[in-house]
Amino acid sequence: MADTEEVVVYIMPQKIQKQRLKHMKMAALKHHIMLAEELKENVTHIVTEYETSDQAMKVLKLSELPQNTHLLKVNWFTDSIKARAPVQIQEQHRIPVGDSVQRSQQRSESPPPNHIPEFSCQRSTPLKHYNQKFCEALELLQDYAEMREGDDNYMRALAWRRASCVLKSLKFTLTNINQVKGAKDIGKHVEKVLQSILDHGTSDEVEKVRNDPWYQKMKIFTKVFGAGTKTAQEWIENGWSTIKEVQQEYTKGDWRLRFGLAFHDELMELVTRQEADNFTEFIKHESARLLPEVSVELCGGFRRGKSKGHDIDLLFTHPLKGKEHGFLPHLLSVLEGRKLILCGKWNKSTFTEEAMYSDSKRTKNNQLDHFEKWIGIIKFPRTWKRSVSQEELFSDEGENIPLNESFEDLEPAKKKAKTGDLSPQEIAAQPRSWIARRVDLIIAPYDQYFYSLVGWTGSKQFNRDIRTYAKRTHNYAMTSHGLYDLTKRTSLPAKSEKGVFDLLGVPYFPPQERNC
Ligand code: CTP
Ligand code: MN
Ligand code: MN
Repeated sequence: MADTEEVVVYIMPQKIQKQRLKHMKMAALKHHIMLAEELKENVTHIVTEYETSDQAMKVLKLSELPQNTHLLKVNWFTDSIKARAPVQIQEQHRIPVGDSVQRSQQRSESPPPNHIPEFSCQRSTPLKHYNQKFCEALELLQDYAEMREGDDNYMRALAWRRASCVLKSLKFTLTNINQVKGAKDIGKHVEKVLQSILDHGTSDEVEKVRNDPWYQKMKIFTKVFGAGTKTAQEWIENGWSTIKEVQQEYTKGDWRLRFGLAFHDELMELVTRQEADNFTEFIKHESARLLPEVSVELCGGFRRGKSKGHDIDLLFTHPLKGKEHGFLPHLLSVLEGRKLILCGKWNKSTFTEEAMYSDSKRTKNNQLDHFEKWIGIIKFPRTWKRSVSQEELFSDEGENIPLNESFEDLEPAKKKAKTGDLSPQEIAAQPRSWIARRVDLIIAPYDQYFYSLVGWTGSKQFNRDIRTYAKRTHNYAMTSHGLYDLTKRTSLPAKSEKGVFDLLGVPYFPPQERNC
């Protein structure tokens, strides 16, 4: 740290917004950093937003800097505010002499925006990155926009998320807005939020949303399995503000909502990697007995390297196309026979050739794709929380369970009518040795498999971006079912996951780098 007594700072007001300059001056006052109102002899540190010393010197009407005076970027000032005292000058703070030198140096320490590829699918986006604080703020604004309905808000939500994704892909922590200024997804509004966090550590706009009671309730309510923004909004309008109130008062709703509410607490407790691995092993074992050579892949967040998730996504296929027919109902009967199914819904495939190029965002039953799938809740033995032995995992009791070809019989609504089962609340209240876990099981025919693998690996934002990229650059329609050339009216099969990227001309990134 420099000797505080000797430091006198002059902030060049040019290129700094009035409000921001005011904040900077107040911060200096607070931390006893001495400021000069103009460039006087005693000034030791000149701080400027100009990018080259030539520009700054011209404005200062100087031919050379006085001795012992440093010309510095604003990041020296913000670093000093953070440290509550003037910090020692480091390379990244300096504005080197001249014009061109500065530009090339800047490039090596922080790539200028035109080096940030336009689409997130063209960038490596790791799970752990350098800009957590900024991304948390931007994604909170995304959340908020998503909760407020309407096309405008949908676009706003996407804009916040894209900006966040730019920051997630940076290989350094943002210290100066110029490091991202001008990048495609960094607009004026985003800049304002980032600048505020750079200057004060927080943004008023973000904090206002964070403290908004409506936002807080929506955040809790939209996490309930089966509840979208509409349902959450309805609950708020009913005057409810806690899950407990909803659990006591709300009697409507489909099977997902009824079970989602009854088992809310444990569903909120995230699924661990250990549980996901145990379940995957168990399903692999059962699947192989039913259909040799069936492939089972753990997708979603776990495949992207997350250690926890809100559910488990398993994608199935068989290398001989057609062999997958009838497999899922068989597997479900086995699970049912072992009393592992709490509730769920099996959907047959709704795939037609048209699905390869149809633009609609969602199918009739509100799905993002047309695969045969099961969405539901599995009863996980509590022992699956830890590493489990093979014997424990694959006990043979299920071997002679009759296989049920038409699994529709076992849908929760009908099942209840048939057997007069207990209500979800009653089941939840019973003494039990299992815990409720959300599971998605998806069946893909082999000729669509690698597209489904990319789609079900995500992230959601990665999918959005790679699909937009496919359309804009090649006029291709991309879905979890395939890639379709809209100009030539042909589909483009892929033989591997990398093949999908190759057909698009996008560098291959492993799942761990698709955390946009
Ligand atoms: N997905 C999909 N069709 C659906 C549901 C999900 O294609 N009907 C995709 C999502 O876009 C995502 C992936 O499948 O890329 C996994 O979805 P989801 O489980 O919702 O999210 P995760 O990324 O796995 O997050 P988490 O770990 O919290 O489960
Ligand atoms: Mn998931
Ligand atoms: Mn899922």
